[in-house]
Parts: sequence; C-alpha cells; structure tokens
Amino acid sequence: MKRITIIGTGYVGLVSGAGISNFGHQVRCVDIDKQKIDLLNDGSIPIYEPELKTLIARSVNAKRLTFSVAVEDAIKWAEVIFIAVGTPQGENGEADISAVIAVAERIGINLNNYKVICTKSTIPIGTGQMIQKIIDQHNHDKIKYDYCSNPEFLREGAAVRDFLHPDRIVLGTTSDKAFEYLKDVYRPLYINETPMVHTTVETAEMIKYAANAFLAIKISYINEVANLCDEIGADVHVVAKTLGTDGRISPKFLHPGPGFGGSCFPKDTKALVEIAKKYNIDMATVTAAIETNIFQRKRMLNKLNDLLDNDLKGKIIAVLGLAFKQETDDVRESPAIEIITGIHDKGGIIKAYDPIANDSMKEIFPALDFKSSWYEAVEGSDAAVIMTEWNEFRSMDLEKLKNLMSQPVVLDTRNILNVSELKRLDFKFDNVGHRVA
Ligand code: UGA
Repeated sequence: MKRITIIGTGYVGLVSGAGISNFGHQVRCVDIDKQKIDLLNDGSIPIYEPELKTLIARSVNAKRLTFSVAVEDAIKWAEVIFIAVGTPQGENGEADISAVIAVAERIGINLNNYKVICTKSTIPIGTGQMIQKIIDQHNHDKIKYDYCSNPEFLREGAAVRDFLHPDRIVLGTTSDKAFEYLKDVYRPLYINETPMVHTTVETAEMIKYAANAFLAIKISYINEVANLCDEIGADVHVVAKTLGTDGRISPKFLHPGPGFGGSCFPKDTKALVEIAKKYNIDMATVTAAIETNIFQRKRMLNKLNDLLDNDLKGKIIAVLGLAFKQETDDVRESPAIEIITGIHDKGGIIKAYDPIANDSMKEIFPALDFKSSWYEAVEGSDAAVIMTEWNEFRSMDLEKLKNLMSQPVVLDTRNILNVSELKRLDFKFDNVGHRVA
C-alpha cells in the first residue's frame, strides 16, 4: 500500500483518485479550488460522470480517500505524487501549462524525502524535462526524487470503466525504482496482465499525443467518407462496419458525426502541430484532420439551411443535445456551440435541450431558451437538430415528434434515428452519410 497525493481534481485527477484508492492505497486528492473540495467533502461530485460517485463513496467510507486544500501537507505526506491539473488551450494553439509549472514549484519547495513525481496531465512533449528543472531549482536540500510521465487514456462519460480496465498503462520513468513504485500503484491491473509499457519520459509524452491525434484523424477520415456517401448515395454505416472487420483498421472511432469536440482532441491536435513546428516537422495529416473537423461543423449548418430552403429567419429550431458527446455535462468545443451560433446569425429562433448539459451551456449562452424535455423543445418547431447521441433521443417516438412539430423536418447529425421510420412518416430529413439506409 502506498501513500498517494493527486494534485488537481478535474476529470483525470478525480477519476484517478477514485480508481487508485479503490486499488487499496491511501489517497489524498488536493486542489486550490476550495469550493470544489467543499463540494467533494459534502459527498457531491463537481462533474457528471457515470459510476464516479459510487466509486468515490466506497473509498471515502473505507477511509482510503480524502479531499483537501492542504496541498503542501499532502506533498510532504506522499510517497507518490500525481500531477493532474488542467492544461487548457493557450494562445497560438499551444497548451497552457502554467498550472503544471506552479505545481512543480510547490513540489520542489516542499520536497522532504524520496518521492516519485508523476505527471498525468497532457503536457507538450519535452515538458517533463522542464518540470524536473523547476523542481530542482526549488529543491535546495537536493532531496532525491524520480520523475515519471503516466498519461491517461480515459474518455469522459466512460472514465471509470476506462481507468479500471485500461488497454495499457504507460510509464515513462527516469529510474527502475520509480517503475517499481508505479507498478505497485497499479498492482491490481498488473496482476490482471494489463500491458505495462515501461519507457522514457519523452516517449510516454509522445504516445499520449500520438494516440489522440490518430483517433482524431480516424474520425475526420470517416466524416469525409460519410460526406462522399451523401453525394453518391452510399451508406457510411455499412462502409465503416466493413472497414472495421479488417483487424488493421478496427471498428472503433469510425462513427461519423458533426465533428469531434471536447477538451482533448481539438486541443491536443492543435498542440501537436505546434510542437512539431518547433522541430520543423510538418504534421500534414493532423492538420488535415483539424481542417476537416472545422469543415464538418460548417457542413451541419449547411445541411440545416438546405432542409429549411435557405431561410432560417424567424424559424423555430429545436437543438437537441448540447454536450460534446453522450454521458457527459461537458460542452467544451461542443459542435452544438457552432450550430447555435450559426442558427442565431441566420435569424433562427432556438429552443435548446440536453438531459444533463443545459446548465453548462447556460454559461456560454445565458439568454438561450432552455427546455426541460425534448417534447417541450420540439413543440411548434420548424426543424429539430440532434447534436448529441443521448439514448433518450435514440429511442424517440418519431410519430410523437412529428405530431408535436409544426413541420416534420429533422437533421440527425449523429445518425441515431431510424431512417426507414423517418421515410415512412414522411419526414424531410438529413444525416451524415446514412440517408439511403
Ligand atoms: C479522448 C480520448 O478518447 C481518450 O482516450 C483520452 O484520454 C482523452 O481524449 C483525453 O485526452 O483526456 P474524450 O475527449 O473524453 O476522450 O472523448 P471521446 O470519446 O474520445 O470523443 C471525442 C470526440 O470525438 C467527441 O466529440 C465524439 O463525439 C467524437 N467521436 C468519437 C466521433 O465523432 N466519432 C467516433 O467514432 C468517436
């Protein structure tokens, strides 16, 4: 059993804290945001993430997990420290690592005995070296420590499952001792034969960006294929499914849609291109994936425009789904933001609804007309646009939808509605490469 401190209680920090404490370790999750820590100590979770509340409650009840703002105490107490603070997109597309730098300084100042210091936040390749330099500058007593990069691959909405059942654990370490410490942290996974990749810090940092960029390229690729399917009358679902039967391609992340969003792919693809520029490397495929993604979002607005005969002015449009994907309340870089702005610019009237993310979107569009059910949102509307693949939209009663709307016009940007049913009910509809199904 190890004493572990996790600095930062965002998605990665909180899920890691819950997961690692469930492995049997003593974990302190710390943050400078007192409001967040108070909320956690009251038994609430600041984010919507399936299964997280239960996992946290189990560890808190077993006295293996605590939340606090006492960052310095927690640094001194720990054998292993995970840095899991946010690295949002800064200016020029580069990641803003100021929070990571501040944490490194604090660790350096408070280093009191040997520790493994491990970064989980997604940081530009090469930042590990910088973190070590910052720690060294403040570590006046030259106390020994080892640095490690341990990137996370969890997805929002499936974060707990991804943490407890990962495809692999990547450990970029500066010593074998640090690797042994971290093997111990992940012992239950190690015993279950989860592959542990022991590599250098730089390689671990690279793996994280390479993985996210590759998935983003896959999505942009299938979106382009879907767009061509639209034009030539092919069904992208059959195409994607068949591509996926080739083990070299795999069926995952081949679902077409309104373009990728969230806090990771848009930010990490841009950051990777910027990092590469510094080394005079042109990441042409990643750049293309970014451009395709921008185009894909515009294409959704064009589709809506076409469905409404190029006249959105004064039309009532129900936007169903605001989160960047299902099972999350996160609206960062959500394609819904663009469609809302686009409809608004063309003079349309929006009624918005999301089962979970209304409040998050309210922070971006405070004056938007938010509804508390899809029924309310579609009532009297001239068109409905599905932006997020929530299950409650998948199981929508299309007859009811038609009866509630003032005219049956639907844009399904997630391809979740039954095309035969839409045709049978005489909907005027569009989706992403799946019209002929
Ligand atoms: C992503 C990665 O999947 C995680 O492995 C990684 O750990 C995480 O970023 C991160 O770097 O922290 P996340 O952004 O939570 O996770 O969500 P994804 O499920 O990957 O979806 C990202 C976007 O791609 C969403 O907008 C989603 O709708 C879109 N997407 C995904 C598609 O359009 N098609 C697909 O087939 C899959």
